[in-house]
Amino acid sequence: MPPEAMPVEATPLEATSAVLPAESRPGVSKPNPILTARGLVRSFGAFKAVDIQNLEIQQGVITALIGPNGAGKTTFFNLATGFDDTSEGSCWFQDQRITGLHNYQIARLGAVRTFQNTRALTRLTVMENMLFASQQQFGERLHRVYGAKWRRKEQKEKERARELLDRFALTHMADEFAGTLSGGQRKLLEMARALMAEPTMVLLDEPLAGVNPALGETILEHILALKAGGTTVLFIEHDMSAVRKVSDWVICLAEGRVIAEGTHGEVGQNQLVLDAYLGSTRGGMSDDE
Ligand SMILES: Nc1ncnc2c1ncn2[C@@H]1O[C@H](COP(=O)(O)OP(=O)(O)O)[C@@H](O)[C@H]1O
Ligand SMILES: [Mg+2]
Repeated sequence: MPPEAMPVEATPLEATSAVLPAESRPGVSKPNPILTARGLVRSFGAFKAVDIQNLEIQQGVITALIGPNGAGKTTFFNLATGFDDTSEGSCWFQDQRITGLHNYQIARLGAVRTFQNTRALTRLTVMENMLFASQQQFGERLHRVYGAKWRRKEQKEKERARELLDRFALTHMADEFAGTLSGGQRKLLEMARALMAEPTMVLLDEPLAGVNPALGETILEHILALKAGGTTVLFIEHDMSAVRKVSDWVICLAEGRVIAEGTHGEVGQNQLVLDAYLGSTRGGMSDDE
């Protein structure tokens, strides 16, 4: 069995020596922030979809981003990964200001995201999707690399793609069109594609949405394995029982603002969080425990 496929037994924090913040309040400083937002606003007309005074995502831990529909979670991901334009304020990745950079420049720095609606190209094979993702993440112009150098590079990328397809149980689908994958397999492909660039941080937008419970467990194991391998994970998820299983830290957004931060125990009991979910017209906080 390849090491990546082994079940991860450690509870989330035991896999790292990370020390969580001493306090649980919105905008609290973290010991080792990898992604930082300050005064970050995205306006659509008079409406502020994101309005974050202060937010730090800690390196080496798994952070869940929760909040009712329309809270601004995806918009925050878009701003942090260069897929949308920031109206005010800035994001930093490690010590570098990334606001204004293209998404492929941010990917090259090490922050790669997935999409709520998977972006696999249905008329490319699964393997081609992997190789294409790598080009997109690095913003490469093909004509700049050619000949032996190109072939070596291509060989290396194919190896990485094969390893990842193996890890995500998609090897048997490598030469099939991505359009033939099941919804769950597309979610796995979406994660595998994100890892082509060997990111130091992944931002996963609802990786569990629409997958069956068994696959959901598998995806949670992949999230734990990413952390065990040293990758920082920020993921958007509604289901508190899933959040509780893997996250070291939870951040709740509502109406564009950070209304709570803390461990899942703290945030799950927070009255502002419960009110935000109750007040939302589309879907409450789900918790099957
Ligand atoms: N391009 C856009 N134009 C106008 N409004 C938008 C746009 N993108 C998002 N919004 C609005 O911003 C709010 C936050 O959306 P989103 O970030 O997708 O929420 P979440 O991911 O938390 O469900 C919603 O009210 C949404 O309708
Ligand atoms: Mg969303």
